[in-house]
Amino acid sequence: MFSTFVKIFFMADDLQIVHGSKEEEYQSLIPQLKGLLTGEPDLIANMANVVAALKEQFRWLWVGFYVVKGDELVLAPFQGPVACTRIKKGKGVCGSCWQQAKTLIVPDVEQFPGHIACSSLSKSEIVIPVIKDQEVVAVLDVDSEQYNFFDDIDQKYLEMVVGLISF
Ligand code: SME
Repeated sequence: MFSTFVKIFFMADDLQIVHGSKEEEYQSLIPQLKGLLTGEPDLIANMANVVAALKEQFRWLWVGFYVVKGDELVLAPFQGPVACTRIKKGKGVCGSCWQQAKTLIVPDVEQFPGHIACSSLSKSEIVIPVIKDQEVVAVLDVDSEQYNFFDDIDQKYLEMVVGLISF
């Protein structure tokens, strides 16, 4: 009972937002994400809370999941402006990430052949694959309003973040 109270209290009110280097901000957030995920088996709830926490900490333009359904990626929990709902394998940055099964960092989205512009404000992007049993089952997509915004630090920690969720 007490632990339920603590968890509800924590989830509702107590995300600690730090202002430091990018690495410090990820290092502060990741244990809190683990706390949010502990004991909750529902995938949608967990994806929703992870993107909400990432958005609150980093204030990116857009952060969200697309999940693999058949031959398409389908929009899943996200934070930010409305987005395209379905992306074919190999299309755009997300579909390319799925096809290549590796993280893609795009410093200037206009230079990425076939980039899908969900928002004209997006200037750079990182997409991380979620791999289960050697298959990509989802991707985490993050968009920034600034060019050249994402780097290997984002890659390292966002790969850790998707690894926290049981897909
Ligand atoms: N830019 C992505 C599409 C998804 S939105 O950015 C939310 C892409 O090229 O796949």
